Formats: sequence, C-alpha cells, structure tokens
Amino acid sequence: MREILNFIRKELRNFYSEGEIESIIRLIFEIKFNFSSLDIHLKVDFPADNFFIIEKIISELKNQKPIQYILGETEFLGLKFFVNESVLIPRSETEELVDKIIKENRNSKLKILEIGTGSGCIAVSLKKFLRNCEVDAFDISNLAIEMAKKNAILNEVEINFFEQNIFSFDSEKKYDLIVSNPPYVCDSEKFLMNANVLNFEPPIAIFVPDDSSLIFYEKIAFLGKKNLARNGRIYLEINENLFEETKNVFAKNGYQKIEIFRDIHEKNRMLRAVLE
Ligand SMILES: C[S@@+](CC[C@H](N)C(=O)[O-])C[C@H]1O[C@@H](n2cnc3c(N)ncnc32)[C@H](O)[C@@H]1O
Repeated sequence: MREILNFIRKELRNFYSEGEIESIIRLIFEIKFNFSSLDIHLKVDFPADNFFIIEKIISELKNQKPIQYILGETEFLGLKFFVNESVLIPRSETEELVDKIIKENRNSKLKILEIGTGSGCIAVSLKKFLRNCEVDAFDISNLAIEMAKKNAILNEVEINFFEQNIFSFDSEKKYDLIVSNPPYVCDSEKFLMNANVLNFEPPIAIFVPDDSSLIFYEKIAFLGKKNLARNGRIYLEINENLFEETKNVFAKNGYQKIEIFRDIHEKNRMLRAVLE
C-alpha cells in the first residue's frame, strides 16, 4: 500500500496540490475499493491486479477530468449522489444553501419546487431531511432528469422530476418554497474557471451571456408571482459579483424581506426573498 500511495503522489505532484492529492487518494480507495479511511494508512497489501485501475484514474486526472466524474459519484450533505458529465458536480456552496433551507423550514409541511435540478442534489436532500415536504423539480436536460431520478432511488425518496425549460414553464400549481441554483457565471468570467470545469462540466449548467446575466433570476421572480403561495419563499444561489443587481430584480417584482447571505468564503452567495 505504501508503494501505491507514493506512486500516486509522485504521478500527480505536478498537477494537484498536496491537499488535493490526499483527498483524491481518500476518494479513490473509499469509493473504488471500499476501504475505510483508516484502511488506507494501515493496510499493507493491495491486490496487484487492481493496479491498472489506478493507472487509468491517474491518466484521466492528468487530463484534468474531475475525480467525481471518474469515480461516477460524489457526496452532498453526507448523502451519496451519482454524477456524470451531463450534470454539474454539486458544490459546497450549494450544500450551504440547502443546509440553510433545512434549518429554517423544519417541521413545516411544504410544497417545494426546484428549478434546474441537475443531479437532483438539492431536491433529494430537501426531501430526505424535510420528510413532510412534497418536492417537484425540473431541468431542461433529459439526461440530467435521468440522473436525478437515479439519485432519488439511491436515496430512497419520492420526487416528481420532469423535463422542462424554465422559459416555457406554465403551471397553476402553488408552492410554499421555490429554490434554484441556476446558471449564473457570465461568459466573460470564463477565464477565471479551471480547465476541469471548462472541459468537462456541461456549459448549459454554468454560463449565461453577459448581456442577459440575470435572465434566470428575472424569470424566477416573475414565475414566483404566479406560483408562490401566500408568504411563499424563494431561496437562490447567486453570482457574488451581481448580488445588488439580483436583489433589485426581486425588489422590482414586489418581493419583501430580500436578504443576501455570505458563504464560508465570505462571498455574497445566497438570496432569500418572501412574497407576502
Ligand atoms: C448550476 S446547475 C445546478 C444543478 C443542481 N441543482 C446543483 O445545484 O448542483 C443549473 C441547472 O439548470 C439547468 N438549466 C439550464 N438552462 C435551463 C432552462 N432553460 N430551463 C431549465 N433548466 C435549465 C441545467 O441543465 C443545470 O442542471
């Protein structure tokens, strides 16, 4: 085992930081080989015929493919989620948003709508941790919806997933809570993104044109006026560079108690608004 670990560290040294390499090692052995985190450091033997699997993973990592896509799964709020290149890899900022929703809405029997569900990480964890709620969730991508359905089965929850473009969404249904982490990175911000995002994650999940950077927020604000029940709430992940503008979209549409919250990196990352 020691030889294998040193081999991985040496091969990846010029591509990832030390901390990243140690997390990658943990994920490879826990997910691919079912080791506990203690096993990784205490086990002595590693079957030689598994070595080619390690070599293949290393070559994909050198090409910047995210480890979550290589292994086909990730964790979100302690739950397991399958992922592939049709869905965004769930982010820790989104965990913060969902954690906030769970803490603020315990014991309520809510009807929830999630817009742009991707892997289903938001919808599935809300249903898992707010047991009494009823969750509808949609995405424009049928491949994302397929993956979200698999993740609902994996986590043993029932969710009404459907394929839908937000810009043609037309429903009479009333929701107590609407949540979304829509595409919000401006095309001009692409140069800030790493190759692993640009080359592997679905652009439709991430980018918006600079001249209509708030298009999803405008549509969500508009849709909420029809589809939110009285005192309904909206929770959104937002572009930290556009938090004032995003806040204005909701103010302009008659929402109250519009608040922005920072993530652990001190970035203005979440918005909550109420429609009384
Ligand atoms: C930032 S990702 C969020 C995925 C997931 N909810 C998460 O937080 O990890 C945005 C999602 O919106 C979806 N999307 C993009 N354009 C859309 C549209 N016009 N209508 C509905 N969904 C759309 C993408 O397919 C993608 O899954």
